[in-house]
Amino acid sequence: MTVISPSILSANFSRLGEEVAAVKSAGAEYLHIDVMDGAFVPNISFGAPVYRCLRGLCDMVFDVHLMINEPIRYIDDFVAAGANIITVHYEAASNVRGTLEYIKSKGISASLAIKPKTSPLVLDEFADLCDMILIMTVEPGFGGQKLIPETVDNIKYASSLRERTKSKFLIEADGGITPENAKVVSAAGADVLVAGSSVFKAKDYKAAIDALR
Ligand code: DX5
Ligand code: ZN
Repeated sequence: MTVISPSILSANFSRLGEEVAAVKSAGAEYLHIDVMDGAFVPNISFGAPVYRCLRGLCDMVFDVHLMINEPIRYIDDFVAAGANIITVHYEAASNVRGTLEYIKSKGISASLAIKPKTSPLVLDEFADLCDMILIMTVEPGFGGQKLIPETVDNIKYASSLRERTKSKFLIEADGGITPENAKVVSAAGADVLVAGSSVFKAKDYKAAIDALR
C-alpha cells in the first residue's frame, strides 16, 4: 500500500504538536521533515531542534529531507534528534557514497534525492546503498508548487533500476502531489507520497490522505 508522508513545511508552526497528532490519527505513516539551509535552496526552514521536540510526542517514521550543502556535517545532529530516514541530495554532497554510508552506519535508513533536471542515470551507482530514493517532482525549496510532468519519467527510471538490480529501496515522490496526480505517480513506481499543501491546507486531513491512496 502507498505510504503517505505529510510535509510539516505546510503545517501551522504555532501548533506543530497538534498538527502532527492530527495527521497521525488521520492515518499517515511517515512525517516528512524538510530542512532547508538558504544555500542549496533559496529558502530557510528549520533544523534538528524543532523536530527533536516532536520525537517524544509520536512514533511516526521521521522522514528527514535535507536540502543542505554537504549534509554529512550535520548527520550526527539529525540522527540524535530522532530521524529514522535521512535523505540527502546528489547535487549537494561532494562525497555521495561516503554520506550514505555514514547515515547507514548510524543504524537508520539512507536515501538519495535528485532534483527534476538531474539525470536519473546518476542513481545507478548508489542503488546498492539506498534504502530509499527520493524523486523531486518540483524544484526543491518551496511547498505549494505544481508537479513537473517530466519528473514522472524519473520515477519510472528508479523503478526500472530497482527491478534491474533486484534492489529493495523504496521510491518517494516529493512535490506537488495531489489526489489528481497521485495515481499516475504511484503507477510510475512511487511507494511513498509526500504531501504538504494537499494535506495541511485541507479542512479534513483524513479525507485528504484517503484521497491520495
Ligand atoms: C519542497 C519540499 C517538499 C514540499 C512538499 O522543497 O521538499 O517536501 O514541502 O510540499 P507540497 O506537497 O505542497 O508540494
Ligand atoms: Zn521534501
